[in-house]
Amino acid sequence: MARTARFTGLASGAHAMQTFPNVYSVAASPTWAPPEASEDQKAMDELRRAVLKEDWAMNFEEGLTKIQMRAEWSASKDRSALLQWLVKSRHAKRVLEIGSFCGVGSLAIAEVLGGEGELISLELDPFVVNFGRRFGGPRLRRVQTMMGPAIDSLTRLCAAKGTRPFDLVIIDADKEGMCDYFQMLWKTPGLLAPNAVVAVDMTPFKGQPPLRFVKFGFPYRCETSSGEQQIRELRSLVQQSADFSSHEFGGLLMVESSKH
Ligand SMILES: C[S@@+](CC[C@H](N)C(=O)[O-])C[C@H]1O[C@@H](n2cnc3c(N)ncnc32)[C@H](O)[C@@H]1O
Repeated sequence: MARTARFTGLASGAHAMQTFPNVYSVAASPTWAPPEASEDQKAMDELRRAVLKEDWAMNFEEGLTKIQMRAEWSASKDRSALLQWLVKSRHAKRVLEIGSFCGVGSLAIAEVLGGEGELISLELDPFVVNFGRRFGGPRLRRVQTMMGPAIDSLTRLCAAKGTRPFDLVIIDADKEGMCDYFQMLWKTPGLLAPNAVVAVDMTPFKGQPPLRFVKFGFPYRCETSSGEQQIRELRSLVQQSADFSSHEFGGLLMVESSKH
């Protein structure tokens, strides 16, 4: 007589829902819903969408912005998560962001700063700061923006008496200035907390405005410096110095003092 084996295990092809029944497979059970986004999360998503929809080339053409902005400069979801992890893991209370654009990264940072937390953002262009303020909500109370060229704002911060040290600094503006910002931070006594982290954006072209130029009669052709030379210079400055310990991840070069 032929023997018929009755295999009911998953390996024999049984239906997964029969093998692993769960509450949501029962007809009368509540339907599954994704977790609700927080108000801050909604504000960030709304701002990201508005930045993508905005015609930045037109804004520059009409003289509304000082340089031609690019929508993709805004912090992505991954970058926002990385910034939040940095703030939380370092227990950062005072954060400095050099180059804020419309403030997506600032909002991500402000969301996880504790009650005492404070974020100072340096941004060249008032138009983008005002654009972002329409979406910020109450968290923006923690954000103080210094408008104008970052080197001037940084000079003022360095000279100001009673500036409390920063636990975390994000450098994400023009690549031409990034080595100067980096050096100023580490050379000014008391500007950085002893265990501070300085995270520098190392993405070529990011923050680099297209330069208008006229060549062979094509007035609208533009070129952009990738900033790769400055990126290489900063990377080798950090790697060759015994003063720093560093790690590059997610497009950020994260640097701390090797002496604490
Ligand atoms: C890549 S975006 C910043 C993105 C932002 N950190 C974020 O996470 O959403 C670079 C910003 O730096 C600003 N910027 C460029 N050159 C600057 C300068 N010399 N001083 C201050 N801000 C500058 C630009 O206006 C732009 O808004």
